[in-house]
Amino acid sequence: MAQPIKGFSKLSKEDKIDWVARNYTLNPEDTKEILQTYWHPDSGLQKLHDEFIENTISNFYLPLGIAPNFLINGTLYAIPMAIEESSVVAAASKAAKFWLERGGFSARVLGTEKIGQVHFIYNGDEKKLQKFISHIQPLLRRDTDEITKNMVKRGGGITDIVLVDKRKAMENYFQLHATFETMDAMGANFINTCLEQFAKTMLREARNFREFSEDERDIEVVMSILSNYVPGCLVRAEVSCPVSELNDEESMTADEVAEKIVRAVRIAQKEPYRAVTHNKGIMNGIDAVVQATGNDFRAIEAGVHAFAAKDGRYTSLTDASVENGIFRFWIEIPLALGTVGGLTRLHPLVNLALKILQNPSAEELMQIAAVAGLAQNFAAMRSLVTTGIQQGHMKMHLLNILNQMGANDQEKKTLVHYFREHTATHGAVVEALQKLRQD
Ligand code: MEV
Repeated sequence: MAQPIKGFSKLSKEDKIDWVARNYTLNPEDTKEILQTYWHPDSGLQKLHDEFIENTISNFYLPLGIAPNFLINGTLYAIPMAIEESSVVAAASKAAKFWLERGGFSARVLGTEKIGQVHFIYNGDEKKLQKFISHIQPLLRRDTDEITKNMVKRGGGITDIVLVDKRKAMENYFQLHATFETMDAMGANFINTCLEQFAKTMLREARNFREFSEDERDIEVVMSILSNYVPGCLVRAEVSCPVSELNDEESMTADEVAEKIVRAVRIAQKEPYRAVTHNKGIMNGIDAVVQATGNDFRAIEAGVHAFAAKDGRYTSLTDASVENGIFRFWIEIPLALGTVGGLTRLHPLVNLALKILQNPSAEELMQIAAVAGLAQNFAAMRSLVTTGIQQGHMKMHLLNILNQMGANDQEKKTLVHYFREHTATHGAVVEALQKLRQD
């Protein structure tokens, strides 16, 4: 039974490994070997990784793949994706190629507003508080001048600070609700530093505000922190084509495919059990881009799912329609991404991923990530309403067997159709092809 340990973070890396291996694994030598196998031979690069977090004992690899042929607003991208799930890059690439031949994706940023809040408790006259906050507005800005000056030079900064009365939610609870423009940075550190200064300024000024009673001066700041719920940092991506071009290799007509995709999206809009899986598929594409570009996928995930439930019920992030013979498929999603700051220039692979994406601005990266999510969802929808996800995998295998046996296109089509309803084993495929040829 392992004992608690004091000062673990102060041990050398070797001692940390030794402690974990001895206390928590049956074969300490094997454990050490595995961990060391994943160390980078370049000690400088390894040190960089060691210092990303505390108590690093090794590196954890994820595959970095490329999904080519993404035509977005007329520019052709090859999208780097860091993900472990086998089908994601393949599905993204397939959807990219499909839409490349139909005019590509269009995307636009609808807003870039970030949010942060100082949560505080004030026991007193609300009118006086309002007056106080108006009085300190210039001071809140003046006291953050040093923090904001570089951001202001780049065109960003604090855009608004308002008082919000939250007493319906909790006794004496108010907020300073601030909005920010952080340009190409995700901006978490910038926002949190501003918010902590707002809190200090507010407390300092409250002590001197003549109109407050003694009790009213006693404002209690509970916390100052950005929000990862960013409904005003929104991007829209879309594809469309005549329904007739939505042909599938399978026996279903283009009209049926379009109708079924729209119906599948309606189900995800109405049924939360389905919506969660539907959105999970979207996030397969988005998270892979977010990870490859060194952004915070937990922040993105939290914000996206809150957005999916913004009307009080969890629903689909994508939508689809068929009107006047045109199939449309689109997504609107909040994505607070950055292309400067954080890990973006520090992690060599992140740096490279951004170069492959032609050093996008944050707005361009928002569009690319939204497109990756839409493409992923389109690929899943198309498989689900036609062959089914599993059938898709089996189809690959089935075609391998048929190709081995020299089946022609008509035979393949007939047997792919037949094996929708029957389990495809090697023996069953051979038998079915022989029977078809006899018939
Ligand atoms: C699997 O990772 C994702 C899917 O389940 C998404 C979906 O069902 O839409 C295929």
